[in-house]
Amino acid sequence: MNAKQLNLEESKSGKDVIIMRKQPIVVLSVSFAIGIFLAGLASSGDKERPVAKYPDDYRHWTHVKSMVIQPGHPLYQLFGGIHHIYANWKAFKAMESGKSFPDGAVLVFDLLEVKNESNSLAEGSRKFIGVMQKDSKEFIDTGGWVFEKFRGDTKERVVSEPKSACFACHEAQKQKDYVFSDYHK
Ligand code: HEC
Repeated sequence: MNAKQLNLEESKSGKDVIIMRKQPIVVLSVSFAIGIFLAGLASSGDKERPVAKYPDDYRHWTHVKSMVIQPGHPLYQLFGGIHHIYANWKAFKAMESGKSFPDGAVLVFDLLEVKNESNSLAEGSRKFIGVMQKDSKEFIDTGGWVFEKFRGDTKERVVSEPKSACFACHEAQKQKDYVFSDYHK
């Protein structure tokens, strides 16, 4: 921001007359304007929550595990069906070596309907994908992970409060960097 822009800000707030007359007030007003500018930067993060990228190629990632959740399981309402968990390369290397997840690690929880067909359980349509993307600087409130959920086969985001909708439960896994699943060879 240059001096010209700052003056512009101030004339909007009607303070330009004072600035012309007294030098110390100019200094004060300029710092005030810078303050407002910085506050604006900080609060713009609240208005537009940073989000995870849709993981376009996750079906080509490393398969971590699968699980079927049936009626009667405590998580049936939330995650009933069959899910597969995938890790991108950075997440997979961390899981394999037991090290903590680096920035850029992404895990996907892919949940599909489960169809009970003549004593077999088969995949139905996709319910949603859940995404955890590590960015330790941005997401300090949610353990350094951004949590996201995309509906069905779409890229429609369906989580507005990731802290209560996702992190509240994943928080229990703090000792494992908020991740539940383990990779087995
Ligand atoms: C009630 C608890 C609970 C809530 C709420 C929850 N999860 Fe999970 N999540 C789990 C469990 C348990 C697993 C491990 C499942 C398994 O072992 O197959 C898991 C696994 C995952 C994984 C794979 C990595 C890992 O931790 O194993 C991702 C990605 C994920 N969840 C994203 C989300 C997102 C996004 C939300 C919010 C929309 C969410 N979760 C909400 C319990 C929860």
